[in-house]
Amino acid sequence: LREHEEFTKVKNIAKIELGRYEIDTWYFSPFPPEYNDCPKLFFCEFCLNFMKRKEQLQRHMRKCDLKHPPGDEIYRSGTLSMFEVTFYSNKALAQWQVDGKKNKVYGQNLCYLAKLFLDHKTLYYDVDLFLFYVLCECDDRGCHMVGYFSKVKFAMLLFSIIYELMMLLHEKHSEESYNLACILTLPPYQRKGYGKFLIAFSYELSKKEGKVGTPERPLSDLGLLSYRGYWTRVLLEILKKHKSNISIKELSDMTAIKADDILSTLQSLDLIQYRKGQHVICADPKVLDRHLKAAGRGGLEVDVSKLIWTPYK
Ligand code: ACO
Ligand code: ZN
Repeated sequence: LREHEEFTKVKNIAKIELGRYEIDTWYFSPFPPEYNDCPKLFFCEFCLNFMKRKEQLQRHMRKCDLKHPPGDEIYRSGTLSMFEVTFYSNKALAQWQVDGKKNKVYGQNLCYLAKLFLDHKTLYYDVDLFLFYVLCECDDRGCHMVGYFSKVKFAMLLFSIIYELMMLLHEKHSEESYNLACILTLPPYQRKGYGKFLIAFSYELSKKEGKVGTPERPLSDLGLLSYRGYWTRVLLEILKKHKSNISIKELSDMTAIKADDILSTLQSLDLIQYRKGQHVICADPKVLDRHLKAAGRGGLEVDVSKLIWTPYK
């Protein structure tokens, strides 16, 4: 699954320490040059500042007063919390003079950290606003980051006006957009259902926005597996309830999953037939049960009643 590694830049940092974990890295990440050739980097697990030596981290921990990501806690269920961290790009800062210095360092540190496990992602986009949704396991020592996903927003720039016009011209009233730019579960927490939780969370935000969403491409191998798993389970469960009297558009409205993603998922399960120029869902209950059994575990559930959030304007 890590076959891309040899095609990307040579890995510069071999290991990191983060909270109580020592983690082997996967890919190159563009840390400032003075950090290159450091066998191991030490991260503060709360503010994500990184240092070359353990003693520096220890000194830092004595004075760092952060115990959770710097942002609003928008979800809490049991020991799981989600924090929304926002920061503005330089361009946006210059244009609107908003207070964006606040979370900028945190956001950049998070990008450096994430790139160690993502092979083909652009870290910085020429957009206005970055939104990070950081998932944490919380205990009496603080909120420990498990993973995150990011979103980018073109806020008030010309681009968004052109985009809206194009949408109008194509009569796409139910607005489609990317609802996720990057997703990461830190390696010690992988394969426990957190990835599917993050994905489910991104669709819950889209539902609140009244939009249909899709992740930015390209997806990594693990990203595609996780999305396929999520889409498959969500769609099969609805089809089971509704027999097959339901259209792709209706599925899309219910789930906030983009119609193309629904079609490709159902096609991969061989549940689509093409009749009289239309895609028709053909779902025999027995076939659905068989697929559901094969679909594996669901992720951790998002309890929507615990999500307190209003869409970003
Ligand atoms: N081997 C085989 N299948 C795997 C593996 C693996 N190592 N890891 C995940 N999967 C598949 C499985 O189907 C799994 O479901 P299952 O456990 O029910 O069989 C499914 O993916 C998702 O498992 P989760 O436990 O919900 O997901 P996890 O917390 O492991 O996170 C993620 C998935 C975020 C993709 C993680 O692997 C990761 O961070 N990878 C590195 C970064 C990355 O590639 N991100 C996606 C890039 S694309 C983008 O950002 C738009
Ligand atoms: Zn710190």
